[in-house]
Amino acid sequence: VRIAIGSDHAGFKLKEMLKRQLIEKGNKVKDFGTYSEESVDYPDIAFKVAEEVSTGNFDRGILICGTGIGMCIAANKVDGIRAALCWDERSAELSRKHNNSNILCIGGRILKEKDAKKIVDIWLQTEFEGGRHLRRVKKILDYERSRTLSYRPT
Ligand code: RB5
Repeated sequence: VRIAIGSDHAGFKLKEMLKRQLIEKGNKVKDFGTYSEESVDYPDIAFKVAEEVSTGNFDRGILICGTGIGMCIAANKVDGIRAALCWDERSAELSRKHNNSNILCIGGRILKEKDAKKIVDIWLQTEFEGGRHLRRVKKILDYERSRTLSYRPT
């Protein structure tokens, strides 16, 4: 799987750990920063990773900040992004099965490393169930498309 990963300073340590795990498991991982624990603004990283997933350059994205919340809010502004803030294995699994999430957001100041690892594993392994869930996800896409069109200057 081609994975774009990014964090702010509060998620830096967890990002480094997860990156190693993902590479060891044979994924193609690109790190979009940040590259130290120096303070940065999470939207800058969120938009980069989300755009890479939105354009199809990467299959999935993983974003980490202190809580995961800021990353999730920002990433969901980008077309085609369904970023899910997940806090345990069940939420990660259902974000794939029901919401077809394409970006996983987690909190570096919330989760223990071992729990974060499990969340990432299950999120990558789980497929979208489609069916009634596809109808719902399509409604979100349709809404997004209709707004994009109405904003377009004539
Ligand atoms: C940074 O202190 C913190 O606000 C950020 O990492 C994140 O938790 C925002 O949602």
